[in-house]
Amino acid sequence: MVKANLRVSPLREPMRSIDEFAWAKLTALERAGLRRQPVVTAREGIWVEREGRRLLSFSCNDYLNLSQHPQVVAAAIEAIKRYGVGAGASRLVTGNHPLYVELETRLARLKGTAAACVFGSGYLANSAIIPALVGPADLVLVDELSHACIHAGAKLSGALLCRYRHSDVTHVQTLLAQHRAAHPHALIATDGVFSMDGDLAPLAALAELGQRFDAWLLADDAHGLGVVGGGRGSTFANGRADVPLQMGTLSKAAGAYGGYLCASAAVVELMHTRARPLIYSTGLPPPAVAAAIAAIDLIERQPDYVAEPLRKARMFTQALNLPEAQSAIVPVILGEAETALAASRQLEEEGFLVVAIRPPTVPPGTARLRFAFTAQHPEAEIERLAAVVRARVLGSAGAADL
Ligand SMILES: Cc1ncc(COP(=O)(O)O)c(C=O)c1O
Repeated sequence: MVKANLRVSPLREPMRSIDEFAWAKLTALERAGLRRQPVVTAREGIWVEREGRRLLSFSCNDYLNLSQHPQVVAAAIEAIKRYGVGAGASRLVTGNHPLYVELETRLARLKGTAAACVFGSGYLANSAIIPALVGPADLVLVDELSHACIHAGAKLSGALLCRYRHSDVTHVQTLLAQHRAAHPHALIATDGVFSMDGDLAPLAALAELGQRFDAWLLADDAHGLGVVGGGRGSTFANGRADVPLQMGTLSKAAGAYGGYLCASAAVVELMHTRARPLIYSTGLPPPAVAAAIAAIDLIERQPDYVAEPLRKARMFTQALNLPEAQSAIVPVILGEAETALAASRQLEEEGFLVVAIRPPTVPPGTARLRFAFTAQHPEAEIERLAAVVRARVLGSAGAADL
């Protein structure tokens, strides 16, 4: 029998050392203005109640306000009555309730693909899709500003990970020319609409490079669905880009929960057998799936309403002379974390909730206010917000990107 060489100091109890470790980390983060704490927030449409105050929120990704839409809510309630609140098992066991088929059919139709696969969330989808397609012998190119879950999926895959400069197609081409030949498979992964910057990825140019180098293109449309491309998302925003892997989430403009991949039948089949977060995690609650179906229905049937978040974001950028919004997201980059936190507090004093976004969500030195516009934000409030930002944020701190 092998004897474990456990020399535990009597002065250092294991549980105490965990807490010491945690407090030391938290103290250092606090000093750098980077500690994060969840704040209880009750949402009622575009309004929130936080710490006893009612605020108008510009920090919610419910771009079409569908999470509380009567038809979406009714669909969820109906699904609970019929199928219960939970799926009971993984989709590969007994958690594949009948609503999945309808949602996947609707998503594939919306995105113009042969098939679709729904996952537990957007984060889980990227953690599932990327390692199912590429492995340690392969190559993954990721936009440096892509969402954390793309980076997580790429790391999990074990493939050689090259980060390319934000939306820099020439850099992608250079990296492909340098590395592609040494790897059996290659994947390019990018946000379609960048989550913290609101700009659109150059999908057509990336798709063209993908064709040329046989590198599969994955576009994460978390913030594009229901907002750009007539609601069909970033792949449809400037003509149609040929993107074989259209990934996204149902938790933002669709107002529900869950992630998805729209792709060929073969790729979707592969997900059923190889995507670990799909195989080893319980299926989505039936009400979330039913709500997403109702939301897709509304997105398809109401193009004028779908155009509203972008129109409202553009009202704001125009009022402040900022570059024209390309999506519902408008960043005002302020620099240091403390500056962004102070600006957020100033807006809160005026009755607006605009949460400060800090590293590591964004690169160091680019902490910002991230404004998210929804269909139901009143125009008068957007004008008032712009006036307050001009006077209290831009007037004092001076935005780093202006
Ligand atoms: C670009 C992008 N991808 C994926 C996700 C994750 O989606 P979900 O919230 O469904 O996990 C987000 C959410 O913040 C996102 O912004």
